[in-house]
Amino acid sequence: MEINPVKGTHDIIGGEANLYSMIEHTAMQVASCYGYKEIRTPIIEHTPLFLRSVGESSDIVNKEMYTFEDKGGRSITLRPELTAGIMRSIVTNKLYANTDLPLKFFYLGPCFRYERPQAGRYRQFNQFGVESVGNPSFFQDAEVIALGYRVLETIGLGEVRVLINSLGDEESRTAYKEALRKYFSKHIDKMCSDCKRRLEVNPLRILDCKVPEDIEIVKGAPKMTDYLSPASKAYLESVIGILKSIGIETEIDSTLVRGLDYYTGVVFEYHLPKIEGVDNIGALGAGGHYANLLAEVGGPSYEGIGLAFGIERLAYVIKTVHEFDTNFGIDVYLMGMNDSIIEKNFALADMLRGSGFSVESNYEVKSMGSLFKTANRKKAKFAIIVGEDEVAKKEVAVKNLKTQEQTLVKLEDLENVLHSLLNAYYASEYESPKEE
Ligand code: HAM
Repeated sequence: MEINPVKGTHDIIGGEANLYSMIEHTAMQVASCYGYKEIRTPIIEHTPLFLRSVGESSDIVNKEMYTFEDKGGRSITLRPELTAGIMRSIVTNKLYANTDLPLKFFYLGPCFRYERPQAGRYRQFNQFGVESVGNPSFFQDAEVIALGYRVLETIGLGEVRVLINSLGDEESRTAYKEALRKYFSKHIDKMCSDCKRRLEVNPLRILDCKVPEDIEIVKGAPKMTDYLSPASKAYLESVIGILKSIGIETEIDSTLVRGLDYYTGVVFEYHLPKIEGVDNIGALGAGGHYANLLAEVGGPSYEGIGLAFGIERLAYVIKTVHEFDTNFGIDVYLMGMNDSIIEKNFALADMLRGSGFSVESNYEVKSMGSLFKTANRKKAKFAIIVGEDEVAKKEVAVKNLKTQEQTLVKLEDLENVLHSLLNAYYASEYESPKEE
């Protein structure tokens, strides 16, 4: 009997995996340019880590965690995000003792949330993110938001909207929560059972409610921006101003509160503008400032700021909006028409791969016509044809499969010639618009 994949999971294959790698490498490269170093933390953590950080009032903790008891009777959770684990790691490894603050990390890896699968929403998905801890400054907030924007720009998604808001300092948040309590108390009888609980635990969470009738009530709720203390307002304005000075426009969205409990201060999300034929998949990435998170998991009270992108969402957008061709093809298909040449080609392919070319060759005797078909299917840029004559003369025929031009090349020159031919090939691709 066929075994189906687990609901909400997906296989990432071939060209699609290439696209993921391209996104991940670009993101890592950009983060490195900002001085962030890689960190890898475990996929499983003790459940209380997430209760304390992501928070008991969040949907993630309440409804979405993959939690199980291990054979030793401990409560273990598959991480729903990486920020909490990184704070735990900073404490475990006493990284906070480093005098060179802030600690700046980037990370990449799978996360698990038991959500209803839909476009852009999986139960196992991948995040790329960064955290900067131990240097509270609006420059630091601006740096992280800019880094995220530059990642998007570099992978071709510079048209994103950057939404920003502030949850304010303790004083602003307390006043705002009180205002929300007062407002929602008048409507709570008509609201969903989740909102009834949220009103008790954390009224901010009501603002994220997805129930259509509740959304209407939420529209009339007080706005966070009206409750910001002068200091919080000035901080937010500084972040916005610095980003503007480097050409990054932000839009204040006073309803943006984010669904994780650890945020304080500035929060932000990257969204794609509405595009015909493209599903609304939610935020491409998001993050915010957290003043108390490290202390909540047992460390010193260093503030931090971070963000995370959903790689699945970025890949979806690049594929659908930019019609990204995920079939990259190979540089060379090496063709041999008899057993002895096939054997010689095995060594030639090995040599060319060693020089960095992507090469495949045939292992079974086939006709020239059938080998050309294979080369085209594999999207090879060049075919190298090796026949008895060529072997005798120590040369090969190199055929450009786009222009059909064929050149005889001495074996000793092959590597150099291939480099120039490929450079010319890419240059012509760049200049001439794609043929219909
Ligand atoms: P988050 O908003 O929960 O924040 O997730 C960040 C991003 O992960 C989202 O914007 C989205 O692109 C992606 N994502 C979330 N859930 C799913 C899903 N079910 N399927 C596919 N993609 C998804 C955090 O996780 C915070 N840790 C971000 C952060 C880092 N804040 C500070 N530092």
